[in-house]
Amino acid sequence: MLADKKTGSRGSLTWIGGTRPEMMKPSFLLLLAVAIALGSCARGQAEGLKKGFYKNSCPQAEETVRSIIWNHVSSNSELPAKLLRLFFHDCFVRGCDASILIESTSDNVAEKDAGPNLSLAGFDVIEEVKTALETACPGTVSCADIVALAARDSVSFQFNKLLWKVKTGRRDGTISRRSEALSDLPSPASNFSVLAGQFANKGLHVKDLVVLSGAHTIGVGHCNLFSQRLYNFTGQNAENDTDPSLDPTYAALLKTKCRSLADNTTTVEMDPGSSTDFDNHYYANLQEKKGLFVSDAALLTDQRSAKLVGKLLHPGDFFDDFKNSITRMGAIGVLTGTDGEIRNKCSVVNS
Ligand code: HEM
Ligand SMILES: *[C@@H]1O[C@H](CO)[C@@H](O)[C@H](O)[C@H]1NC(C)=O
Ligand SMILES: *[C@@H]1O[C@H](CO)[C@@H](O)[C@H](O)[C@H]1NC(C)=O
Ligand SMILES: *[C@@H]1O[C@H](CO)[C@@H](O)[C@H](O)[C@H]1NC(C)=O
Ligand SMILES: *[C@@H]1O[C@H](CO)[C@@H](O)[C@H](O)[C@H]1NC(C)=O
Ligand SMILES: *[C@@H]1O[C@H](CO)[C@@H](O)[C@H](O)[C@H]1NC(C)=O
Repeated sequence: MLADKKTGSRGSLTWIGGTRPEMMKPSFLLLLAVAIALGSCARGQAEGLKKGFYKNSCPQAEETVRSIIWNHVSSNSELPAKLLRLFFHDCFVRGCDASILIESTSDNVAEKDAGPNLSLAGFDVIEEVKTALETACPGTVSCADIVALAARDSVSFQFNKLLWKVKTGRRDGTISRRSEALSDLPSPASNFSVLAGQFANKGLHVKDLVVLSGAHTIGVGHCNLFSQRLYNFTGQNAENDTDPSLDPTYAALLKTKCRSLADNTTTVEMDPGSSTDFDNHYYANLQEKKGLFVSDAALLTDQRSAKLVGKLLHPGDFFDDFKNSITRMGAIGVLTGTDGEIRNKCSVVNS
């Protein structure tokens, strides 16, 4: 089951069906039974989530999350980007188990202290929700569910309605490691095949990759994560060594903001002019060669993915597909039933 959780796959049973005689030995049959049990256990996890998991145990849970989150977003329009990205980083490392919220200790460096943590934020808001829910229903609502609900609710604020359904019943993990964040989180410098492979490792398809990348319609990126596209694309240190897959006018504009390769403090909007509006404008940017990261531009380098980009230019398609893909992301490696724990405080595991 651990192996299943790590790869996000359901175990590789595909080789069964061979008819070699040794396959009928009792030891093989025992292995087979164990493999099937593990397979159904992995399925059971995602199915363990359900609509309104807290309906009886903490009826006000979802409304409490929504009201605290909307209260914060009403005065901080950058918060949805933070909370949406937090959910992504949580789910991609060890599954959606709130391991992203755990603080490092003297003998462990946690996920949140890994390099890709630039502009991770919103931890305090999650903890505020948790504190309110611990008062209302002690020991009941997981931090992992709060992260999933907070991402949905924050993005939904501008629409004054909830954009997708969130199944609940996730439990909290007890382990958080920087090394896993470094290996499992996609890099902004990755090409298409690497990105598709990392999503596949989590049980997500190319379509999920293209649709979820649309989250880059909100929020900002730090200069140093893309400025090699402006100044050092071929690595020859030539002057204005710019990525030809970037629109030249846009590249010139970015150079006025990001003055050097080393600038790791300046941020730019990923969807210029509407970086707090959750819409499908990301795909229009991509087609105009204005995707910010190599990983964004990469979505045009594969035929299937480029075709999906074209389709997602229709707002209705984007919103429908986003619902599906974020629901799939929110089920990655979840702990349910009696696995994991309900943390008392989101930043530390229970002692
Ligand atoms: C496809 C692979 C992805 C890569 C390589 C990637 C990479 C990045 C990078 C490098 C940043 C900028 C961080 C910074 O400079 O502070 C960023 C920002 C962001 N990402 Fe992604 N990301 C990916 C997928 C996703 C997904 C699946 C989601 C959510 C569903 C997401 C949501 C966001 C959001 C909302 C921001 C803005 C954060 C802010 O404004 O603080 N990303 N991403
Ligand atoms: C990111 O990691 C660095 C290095 O460990 C740490 O100092 C910083 O506080 C982390 N940022 C966040 C938002 O957790
Ligand atoms: C993508 O990047 C990986 C890792 O850097 C590399 O091995 C691979 O050859 C690249 N694929 C393409 C199609 O460029
Ligand atoms: C430019 O890129 C090359 C190749 O990736 C690298 O060796 C070099 O250090 C980079 N230059 C700077 C100034 O970062
Ligand atoms: C490099 O780009 C800057 C800013 O876009 C421009 O002022 C300068 O003339 C360019 N240099 C060359 C050699 O093209
Ligand atoms: C930014 O760069 C400076 C100088 O290279 C370095 O000391 C600092 O740790 C970097 N900050 C981040 C957040 O990477």
